[in-house]
Amino acid sequence: MNVNVKEKRIAIFVSGEGTNMLNIIKYFEDRTGISIPLVFCSNANAKALDHVREYNIDAYILNKEDLYNSDKIINELQDKDIDLIILAGFMWMIPDNLITAFPDQMINIHPALLPQYGGKGMYGKKVHEAVIENKESETGMTIHYVNENYDEGKIIFQAKLPILDSDTPESIAAKVKELEFEHYPKVIEDLLLNLN
Ligand code: GRF
Repeated sequence: MNVNVKEKRIAIFVSGEGTNMLNIIKYFEDRTGISIPLVFCSNANAKALDHVREYNIDAYILNKEDLYNSDKIINELQDKDIDLIILAGFMWMIPDNLITAFPDQMINIHPALLPQYGGKGMYGKKVHEAVIENKESETGMTIHYVNENYDEGKIIFQAKLPILDSDTPESIAAKVKELEFEHYPKVIEDLLLNLN
């Protein structure tokens, strides 16, 4: 390996279960040249924090004052030399100053085929219920850059799956999760490898 290549560093923002976060942590566990030194969590009781502790990653419990009315989070990310910010089930709006500080360096995953079934209030089971209600023939997942509007940043990658007559919101959720697990770490890796 070229010793002059700088290690790429990821920060993950999470709010809930953290299954995507855990999947990403495991994927990069044995990769040289890529590390995850920092996780930000908006909920002190999130299950995700159990996984973070298990892997000895620094966890920062966010409060709204720090995120929306200060540069504390940006400073922390810059101090840790973060190259890419990964949102993995993060439920709070990202403030403009953070987006500006990390242009094209922040991505999100959404459990549907954006631009449909996105936006404020479209999360979790609600997405899959709406997809069934509208008798869609397919759904999937989207990985996209984060901009100042919920779920509207440039799309990086999508994967689709057909909806069967027998599907329920729960069965679709499970299949979408599988797609997320398969693709999110690889897309992250590709982006990191293409960063200067
Ligand atoms: C995922 O389905 C993702 O698409 C959405 O939030 C969910 C997070 O799930 N943004 P988990 O916390 O990774 O289990």
